[in-house]
Amino acid sequence: MLSGRPGYGVIVPDDVDLDALSDLQTPWCVRVAATLRIADHVALGITDIEGLAATTGSDANALHNVLGHLVAKGVFEEPTPGRFVLNDAARRLSDATQFLRLDGIGGRFAHAWATLPTYVRTGKPGYHEVFGASYWDDLAAHPEIAADFDALMGPAGHGTPDAEFEITGGWESVRTVVDLGGGTGALLAAILRVRPQVSGTLVDLPGTVARAAQTFRAAKMSERVTTVGQSFFDPLPPGADVYLLHSVLNDWPEEETIAILRRCADATGPTSRVVISGGVAADEAPRRLGIDMLLLGGETNSLSEFREIAGQAGLEVVSARQQRRSFVVECRPRNASHP
Ligand SMILES: C[S@@+](CC[C@H](N)C(=O)[O-])C[C@H]1O[C@@H](n2cnc3c(N)ncnc32)[C@H](O)[C@@H]1O
Repeated sequence: MLSGRPGYGVIVPDDVDLDALSDLQTPWCVRVAATLRIADHVALGITDIEGLAATTGSDANALHNVLGHLVAKGVFEEPTPGRFVLNDAARRLSDATQFLRLDGIGGRFAHAWATLPTYVRTGKPGYHEVFGASYWDDLAAHPEIAADFDALMGPAGHGTPDAEFEITGGWESVRTVVDLGGGTGALLAAILRVRPQVSGTLVDLPGTVARAAQTFRAAKMSERVTTVGQSFFDPLPPGADVYLLHSVLNDWPEEETIAILRRCADATGPTSRVVISGGVAADEAPRRLGIDMLLLGGETNSLSEFREIAGQAGLEVVSARQQRRSFVVECRPRNASHP
């Protein structure tokens, strides 16, 4: 059981271990082992340090030091010097390898943390200082990293999406859903699966939309979905019943958030609604630092702030509450007649 003293929105443990909290050695050793796929090599029978070093193109001494550190932290066992076997943690490392690897999206995130001082000083992302371009431009220039990011956003990274969130008045009258920045379509496919009367439109950047085709083919839903490779800063498909922004607005500062919402407002008909999850939190929710803030200067607004922002975009908030997995906010075009 967690014991400690209550803080603002969190239980603060009595015995905070600052050394453990400030350790950089272990996270980097984990990432290097993941990048070199050490657990997979061990599983295939390459267990001695010379073999592991040869297979991964590493210096045997240096690699031994890294694995020795991980053994001391409980990842891998070393029954005899220089021979490694898997334990539960090492097997889990094998499963998690894809998103920890330094040559994939895990490397982008890991190095982005070094830009935290810039973010704190300026409130803006310092990503370009490390990678020479803004986050989305960097992904556009590196399709293999972009594909890794899309996978992280999808079921392989973030698990099965929740299609059961509620909207005011229920889903019965909804026939069309536009998922804006919907990634490779896992959420839209899940919504269509539980709502047979609905057809969907996926809007995302062209590379991501191209990768989404496979999601809808596998779900046998290609006929019920239109995919549109475009920016949500451009005019959106008009007149849908629901416009969805899931884990999108948290990626953007206020000016861009207003611009996206204005595009939504322009596309909505009198009975359309815009449903938002991510980027808005209850007024009393504690503040948290997220990687989206570092990568993109993204902001999560309190509900009161968001009402103001939505208003500037021509939308009004008609409901907002914590649902099963997230805080869901629903907006309608201002001056629309609400059913
Ligand atoms: C954090 S991901 C969320 C994906 C998905 N909605 C989810 O919940 O998993 C943000 C998405 O916004 C997309 N995106 C970024 N900039 C965009 C733009 N200008 N126009 C359309 N989509 C964009 C990205 O490609 C990505 O799929």
